Amino acid sequence: MFAGKKPVVVVGSINIDLVANTERIPVEGETVLGTDFQIHPGGKGANQAVAVARLGYPVQMIGRLGDDAFGAQLRAHLEGAGVDVAGVATTPGTSGVAVIVVGQKGENSIVITPGANALLTPQDLDANIEILRSAGLVLTQLEIPIETVQHLAKICAREGVPLILDPAPAKELPPDLLKDVAWFTPNETEAAFFIGTTDGLSDPAPMAQTLIGKGVKGVVLKLGSRGAYVASAEFRELLSSFAVTAIDTTAAGDAFNGAFATGLLMQMGALESARFANAAAAISVTRAGAQPSMPVMAEVEQMVQRARGNSHPGAKAGAESE
Ligand code: RIB
Repeated sequence: MFAGKKPVVVVGSINIDLVANTERIPVEGETVLGTDFQIHPGGKGANQAVAVARLGYPVQMIGRLGDDAFGAQLRAHLEGAGVDVAGVATTPGTSGVAVIVVGQKGENSIVITPGANALLTPQDLDANIEILRSAGLVLTQLEIPIETVQHLAKICAREGVPLILDPAPAKELPPDLLKDVAWFTPNETEAAFFIGTTDGLSDPAPMAQTLIGKGVKGVVLKLGSRGAYVASAEFRELLSSFAVTAIDTTAAGDAFNGAFATGLLMQMGALESARFANAAAAISVTRAGAQPSMPVMAEVEQMVQRARGNSHPGAKAGAESE
């Protein structure tokens, strides 16, 4: 269906997710009993690449895996999902690992040990410059070294390829980086980090305005159950989320970003793409795990259509969580 289209290129992390389900996420110093344990392929970069592939859109990944058993499994998962892994190198040492605790309402807490992701260098991007040049747009996050993200932003600006930056997990950015970003897609916590305050967080409009003031061209605030707020020079709009019951919100933000990038390359326009992405995120939270939760195109289209026929779409789950 999309043969011959310029691909989404994802530059980012690839992790194995070790997931414990519990009735309640423990507080500091506490031990709780788990109800289930699963191992899933994850990592924000890989999740976003798989989100695009599941929608049937061409996608290539640039990243690093360790030469451990997890590395081989993670590569096989990406390939199996339809992600082109020619830009994924294997490094001596361990692959990225995420230890995730999921609570009863689908909420989570995550600890990442980056492993090979920390070794993705600016030189890796230069070595894969043809992949980057071939991109319809590039999608990245902050689970790889910041120098690499900075170099990527420069390459995208030079080559005229739009860059989507999902600033997760939030960390200090070099001052000139944001002006090379076409779409900045934080959740509320990340937006507060970049704005430097938690005041006025209930109103997304000034938050988005402040971020645009920092140089990005467009902002999509992922607001979880409140939906998504899209702002650029042309429009500002709050899009409501879809009514679903969440069982695991892990990678909802990744489902959103992958679908948003896909929508933009399908020429949907930013608002329509964000609506499409809200639907993908809503479906993802109804399923366990990161990559296994990513929906296919027909499911997302159906959800968007159903909401169009319903004048009072609910707002129970969205893409705030990672
Ligand atoms: O966004 C969810 C992801 O965050 C998980 O898959 C985990 O690997 C961490 O990167």
